[in-house]
Amino acid sequence: MQSIQTFPPGFRWGVSTAAYQIEGSADVDGRGPSIWDTFSHTPGAVANGDTGDVACDHYRLWRDDVTLMRELGVSDYRFSISWPRVLPSGNGAVNKAGLAFYDRLVDGLLEAGIRPYVTLYHWDLPQALQDAGGWPERATAEHFGDYASVVADALGDRVQDWATLNEPLCSAWLGHLEGVLAPGVKDLTAAVRSSYHLLLGHGLAAQALRSHAAVKPNVGLVFNMTPCEPATDSEADRRAAQRADGHNNRWWLDPTHGRGFPADMREVYGVDLPERPGDAETIAAPLDHLGLNYYFRQIIKDAPELSAPSYHVLPVPGAQTTAMGWEVHPDGLEQLLMRLHEDYAATSVLITENGSAWHDEVGADGSVHDPDRVACLERHLEAAASAVRRGAPLHGYYAWSLLDNFEWALGYDKRFGLVRVDYETQQRTIKTSGHRYAQLIAAHRRVTAPPNPS
Ligand code: FCB
Repeated sequence: MQSIQTFPPGFRWGVSTAAYQIEGSADVDGRGPSIWDTFSHTPGAVANGDTGDVACDHYRLWRDDVTLMRELGVSDYRFSISWPRVLPSGNGAVNKAGLAFYDRLVDGLLEAGIRPYVTLYHWDLPQALQDAGGWPERATAEHFGDYASVVADALGDRVQDWATLNEPLCSAWLGHLEGVLAPGVKDLTAAVRSSYHLLLGHGLAAQALRSHAAVKPNVGLVFNMTPCEPATDSEADRRAAQRADGHNNRWWLDPTHGRGFPADMREVYGVDLPERPGDAETIAAPLDHLGLNYYFRQIIKDAPELSAPSYHVLPVPGAQTTAMGWEVHPDGLEQLLMRLHEDYAATSVLITENGSAWHDEVGADGSVHDPDRVACLERHLEAAASAVRRGAPLHGYYAWSLLDNFEWALGYDKRFGLVRVDYETQQRTIKTSGHRYAQLIAAHRRVTAPPNPS
């Protein structure tokens, strides 16, 4: 890769994971159930009937995983906290044993010289809060703020980097409109209300972090953004692409950047927002950084026969696609970084997820040679470097993912790890892509190291 020296000194090189996707130990040490336990145990909801009951057994094997991170040479580890491990009913009594797990993990990371980046919510709502109405209800946002205070009290003396939510788009649109993720609801009103309360919850959690963390927190929010391009030049497709952009990007970025919810999308959804005085300011709490997760772009075709937002996503003819069926399109990453810089005046962006799933083949000696993942990694880093040259304020890159893991409704078949997990034995093997990432990180450190004084 040509451009590694483009990334500034101190650039943060990380790996990302999420609690439900790796931890397992679902009913250990007082953890309560989350909507993902319920969803994954619902027949037909997840491929092969897979669940996160055991996953990568990271709850028990976390020390080995920290050792793997050291081998990769990463500076940062982004992981999420399981809300129902800390508060089994979502609010009320704190489960000390659950919180203690994260306490040990944070200490273990710091001892290994790895900076922890904590995501408070990566989709695992406590089931008790779902039973009380879930994200369509305002109380859930308020409970999220309280949960943030509990975690900030416990870890805020050592953790500096925080994201409130991971990809609220997925919680709202995929969880409550399309019904393909937990809690599996298909209802536009519930989805729009959820989107509102997720962002309100973000604002309340940002306040809680700022008032409870002992060390000044670097507060962020993680969005998955998608470039949306019209399938043809027709007026109908261009308008559909604007709706898709509203649905995927502007609905989330505008209110969190003080612009309010976009008027055109309010009209498209036709659902009253549960707004109260002061909410807009809470939602627009200043961000210390924005987390960008990037996987693909979308080609949009108008579909008036469909309910809002009334469009189809078309495949790109001839495109290279991953095992997820997602197009490999590194230019989209550059485009989004420039948009955050130019249109939203972002001051600090971290690529909090980027990666690809492939049908990995395991050699006779257990090794995994994954050239497609290596190429994807390098091409996306080139795209990011190009944005940096054009002025984008990019300060870090976190590969998704450290480990193969539970890929939500697609179960264990889809492997995103830089490290292979054998789910029978829980053995971990660094793939060629993991070794390549380690080389790139080391090369970056070499070229940006201050000159030797002698
Ligand atoms: C993102 C999720 C992450 C993982 C990747 C592949 O949308 O944040 O948990 O599933 O996709």
